Amino acid sequence: MAFELPPLPYAHDALEPYMSSQTLHLHHGKHHQTYVNTLNGLVRDTPLEDADLEEVCKVSYGDPSKQTVFNNAGQHWNHLLFWQCMRKGGGGAIPGELESRLRDGFGSVEAFKDEFAKAGLAQFGSGWAWLVEDGGRLQVMRTPNGENPLVHGRHALLGCDVWEHSYYLDYQNRRADYLKAFLDNLVDWEFVAGRLQGR
Ligand code: FE2
Repeated sequence: MAFELPPLPYAHDALEPYMSSQTLHLHHGKHHQTYVNTLNGLVRDTPLEDADLEEVCKVSYGDPSKQTVFNNAGQHWNHLLFWQCMRKGGGGAIPGELESRLRDGFGSVEAFKDEFAKAGLAQFGSGWAWLVEDGGRLQVMRTPNGENPLVHGRHALLGCDVWEHSYYLDYQNRRADYLKAFLDNLVDWEFVAGRLQGR
């Protein structure tokens, strides 16, 4: 069964002024759609055709003969999470259990935000910044290109796309401003808290 691109969970203008309608039309409707279309073309008539997305990511990761499959499967998985990590009127208060877990992991919510933003800034070229759960502990990590926590055996709670296509129209070269707006004004902390698996 072919992979499909679900609609955004909000209107294209819902995240303005922090992420514009134009960015979402291009990023979701063109970039993400292209990953899905390319992935479908690559797995058609292969043993991966009927595998689920997580399985395709895990099987193709690290296999040089399946690098292009991984790039597109990873990016499909990453973007599906990314869209859900944001909402209209996002940012603001963090639910109690998640806030306490962030304090346990990083010392304070602000220290977590600093570390997350630094990970996004430190990713040279294209990639992602993540908040992950690893053995019950919260950690920040970054990955290049389409790579994700899934293939490293970690559970992603929050992901931020730092490819230029995610922010260039709205922030030009100011990736730090984009990361700050993401954390302070876009993240759906209820969704992130809902992904916690436990201690
Ligand atoms: Fe993207």
